[in-house]
Amino acid sequence: MALLEVKGLKTYFETQEGEVHAVDGVDFSLGEGESLGLAGESGCGKTTAALSIMRLLPYNGRIVDGSIRYMGYDLTGMPENQIRGIRWRHISIIFQGAMNALNPVKRVGGQIAEPIILHEKVDSEAAQKRVGDLLELVGIHRDRARDYPHEFSGGMRQRVMIAMALACNPRIVIADEPVTALDVMIQGQILDLLERLKRELGLSMILISHDLSVMAETCDSMAIMYAGKIVESGGVRDVFKRANHPYTKDLIAAFPDIEGEQRLPAFIPGLLPSLVDPPAGCRFHPRCKFARPECETTDPALETVGDGHRSACHINRWMEEGTWTSSREGGPP
Ligand SMILES: Nc1ncnc2c1ncn2[C@@H]1O[C@H](COP(=O)(O)OP(=O)(O)O)[C@@H](O)[C@H]1O
Ligand SMILES: [Mg+2]
Repeated sequence: MALLEVKGLKTYFETQEGEVHAVDGVDFSLGEGESLGLAGESGCGKTTAALSIMRLLPYNGRIVDGSIRYMGYDLTGMPENQIRGIRWRHISIIFQGAMNALNPVKRVGGQIAEPIILHEKVDSEAAQKRVGDLLELVGIHRDRARDYPHEFSGGMRQRVMIAMALACNPRIVIADEPVTALDVMIQGQILDLLERLKRELGLSMILISHDLSVMAETCDSMAIMYAGKIVESGGVRDVFKRANHPYTKDLIAAFPDIEGEQRLPAFIPGLLPSLVDPPAGCRFHPRCKFARPECETTDPALETVGDGHRSACHINRWMEEGTWTSSREGGPP
């Protein structure tokens, strides 16, 4: 049984413009000790999926359908007092952008100690010892607990956020864009740290990024999201080497290798559609260079295209039916 199993998850936001279908029927699972990458352009619903798992949605967001099973227990309907026993102690998150939101007037050690004192009910001396241990775990000298956030570089502040996420010994850590906005060399160091912690502590991890290249080294499997849905999922190698969905291919092309000299910014022609009134059929069809009329009316289901590898694109069926020649028209596989 998977440690975490998300099925048919739908999370919507109420807004003045209407209901935003941020996560619109998403399935994925995370095994013990496994690391799953969740990728897709900004605005496709990655953070919303993460906040749904944590049950920390903004006031106007709600899970409207689906299940999130952790060790078999469905978190979607769990009362808040039970969720509190799971949040941080079983599943924790490194929030997107949080390294820039540390309290500037409080010492870093005190900020890491807060969740420990709150959730583990230990005295401040024991908490301080734990803070020192956590700092060392993430590669920071324990004496630096006395320093203020501005005395740390971006990479060091992200290490502090990782220490905070580990404070209550969780089994699953969700890292939401943990290396975005760091320079490439520091990105590599933070990814190495996450990878080492995962191995040494036996953690399971969900690594969220709009940049596919950061997943190549760090993740076992990955899921590609587009406009609130998963369009392709599978083992990291399969998705990279045998990308099937036209969107995945565009995304891979937009983010060359992390080691590469020339890291071009993402540019996939066209814009992410409105999630208030998403396009009918395949949500990617307005941007897809292979789209046929069927794509405008029928939403393709995720179908198996290889061992543990799934993709939602009509081209796969057209190829089976012989109405598509990949050599002439391009596209999958
Ligand atoms: N609190 C909110 N109220 C209304 N819409 C929201 C809210 N939070 C996120 N959204 C919308 O939900 C969609 C998905 O956002 P998000 O999950 O942050 O995407 P990602 O993390 O992939 O960039 C976007 O269209 C975004 O504008
Ligand atoms: Mg996000």
